[in-house]
Amino acid sequence: MDVVIYPDPSLRRGGAKVETFDDELKETAKQMIEAMYRQRGVGLAAPQVAIDQALLVLNPTGDPADADQEMVLCNPKIISKKGKEWGEEGCLSFPGIYGEVQRATKIVISYQDLDGEEKETRAEDFLARVIQHEMDHIDGVVFTDRFSSVEKLRVKPKLEALEERFKTNA
Ligand code: CO
Repeated sequence: MDVVIYPDPSLRRGGAKVETFDDELKETAKQMIEAMYRQRGVGLAAPQVAIDQALLVLNPTGDPADADQEMVLCNPKIISKKGKEWGEEGCLSFPGIYGEVQRATKIVISYQDLDGEEKETRAEDFLARVIQHEMDHIDGVVFTDRFSSVEKLRVKPKLEALEERFKTNA
């Protein structure tokens, strides 16, 4: 399972609602977690592996030894949010690009687990940031969309380099 790189169109397609909670879904989630660790990420959304489903995996420590902190969210929705804070983010689909994004500091979300069971959880600070970043992928939104205009200008040459590389590899 490979992570697609900007400007792969999968990143803009987003993810449709997960309706079938079967072994295939569990296998997909497992492979996404493996791909996330392999690439030293803290989160990965299905559109980033060219699967158009509302599915995301994360581990805020990024360390496979902390398997107890892994989360798999199907059909996540934000129920409430509080506070706002700028913080630096990166993305496995944007190698070498980092920038400040404003996110809510406290969120409450609903989601379904891999068995389709409805759950609710709250998250703060970095974990809340990771969840919001990955949820954006499900909406076809990427973190650079949320950069300030100054930040957008700063990363423009890097984005253009990735666009050039995509054209060459296509
Ligand atoms: Co990302």
